[in-house]
Amino acid sequence: MVDSKTFWDKMAPKYAASQMRSVEDYEHTLARTLSYLTPDMRVLEMGCGTGTTALRLAPHVLAFVGTDQSSEMIRIAREKAEEAGIGNAEFRVLGAAESAQLDEGFDVVMGYNLFHLVPDVEAVIDDVYKRLKPGGLLISKTPCLADKAFGWKRFLVKAILPLMKLIGKAPDVRLWRLEHVDRLIADAGFETVEAGNFPAISRYIVARKTA
Ligand SMILES: C[S@@+](CC[C@H](N)C(=O)[O-])C[C@H]1O[C@@H](n2cnc3c(N)ncnc32)[C@H](O)[C@@H]1O
Repeated sequence: MVDSKTFWDKMAPKYAASQMRSVEDYEHTLARTLSYLTPDMRVLEMGCGTGTTALRLAPHVLAFVGTDQSSEMIRIAREKAEEAGIGNAEFRVLGAAESAQLDEGFDVVMGYNLFHLVPDVEAVIDDVYKRLKPGGLLISKTPCLADKAFGWKRFLVKAILPLMKLIGKAPDVRLWRLEHVDRLIADAGFETVEAGNFPAISRYIVARKTA
């Protein structure tokens, strides 16, 4: 079994070249997210991958920090930022646990297609809560591969995932139902502002730090 960092380093070029599964769902996610962003905001995106989302959102805020444990993902994100001439986005090689401890006055922290991959994710979300500004937002989207919305495929995933992991063809991934993500975020103290499933197996949540 390969460790998570090695898995995603190897995956990076393929991930960068891959087609979006549903452009419509992705654009809807971006539109909903953009509706919360203002030009004075400082934003952190954990697990930013090759920076596709970061580069779409950065022009709408003051400063954008993208982090990822994979140095290959970050290398590609930096290249793409330079090519696109985006000057207010910075990319750092940093795990989610360390990213959640950054004390840089972020107004918004994001994680897309990330939380189900992070060990001890409860502690990570607790740390995000502690360091966000009061009124700050956590915006996330998480595939829930054990949800009934995934139909019969959820049984297939459960059956073959251990083998795929063993031969290095799948990352370490938690199989959750949609409601698990709501609980995870609420348990850290956040108040949900908006939630939706687009696509049906992915839970999108915008949550506010109230205290
Ligand atoms: C499925 S990709 C998602 C990338 C991007 N957020 C997106 O939606 O396209 C998962 C990313 O999370 C990163 N990742 C996985 N576990 C992580 C962890 N514990 N800390 C930081 N990044 C992590 C991987 O390196 C990879 O770039």
